[in-house]
Amino acid sequence: MSLHDSDCSPDSGIRIVRRSALFLPLALGAACVGARIARAEADDDVEPPCADVFSELSRDEFAAHWRSTGRRLSSAALAHDEIYAAQLAAWIARIPLDQLPRLDVGDRMPVSGLLAGPSWFPSPCIVVEFQMQPGAVLRPHNHPPQVVVTLALEGECEVRHYEVGADAPPCTVIDGTQFDVRETKRALLTPGRTTSLTRTRDGIHGFVAGESGATLLDFTCATTDDIETFSYLDIDPSPIGTSRDRHRARWIGKE
Ligand SMILES: [Fe+2]
Repeated sequence: MSLHDSDCSPDSGIRIVRRSALFLPLALGAACVGARIARAEADDDVEPPCADVFSELSRDEFAAHWRSTGRRLSSAALAHDEIYAAQLAAWIARIPLDQLPRLDVGDRMPVSGLLAGPSWFPSPCIVVEFQMQPGAVLRPHNHPPQVVVTLALEGECEVRHYEVGADAPPCTVIDGTQFDVRETKRALLTPGRTTSLTRTRDGIHGFVAGESGATLLDFTCATTDDIETFSYLDIDPSPIGTSRDRHRARWIGKE
């Protein structure tokens, strides 16, 4: 039947044509809904390949995942840092916090409210633990060749991240040269929360412990053999001009 036919014979044609035009999308829609329902019912019967992404990881399972990925990081493109950091944070979320090795401080006493040291060596990666007394400050510093995911284990603290401006000299130049930094993240860390830095994003971090102190674990992986290059910064707390997040800063070395 054609539209021409319907024009010639309204009673026999045009209603059928119009009804067909309306019914077609309705019928297709109904078919799609039916197919979706059928697929959903079928999905219930099939185990998805990633069904275990929510399961707990043992310490050994976590270490195996992390070491395998960490070994590949040095040859990975910079853009892969984000995948690595996000994947590592996901694995950290799956290991019970009480399964993580802890720092043996022995008879060491805190210096400026801070005790720190390596607590786990799943080579080529390393975990460094920071025990911060109430109000203790871990000054802003960078990690040029490393990707770091920081986990809050106990207490709470504030973290701030910064990125250097294009005019910044290398962090090995400790000559008082000033440059711009931009605050890129400010957050509260409580047990189980993580924050991260990569070679291209949020590369400076600093922490201030809350009223009950804080314990942090840095899950660190170096992308080169250079694990010693870093520097603290002196950052002017007042923003530049009318800016809300840009500050003048200078590298001040490792002391
Ligand atoms: Fe750090």
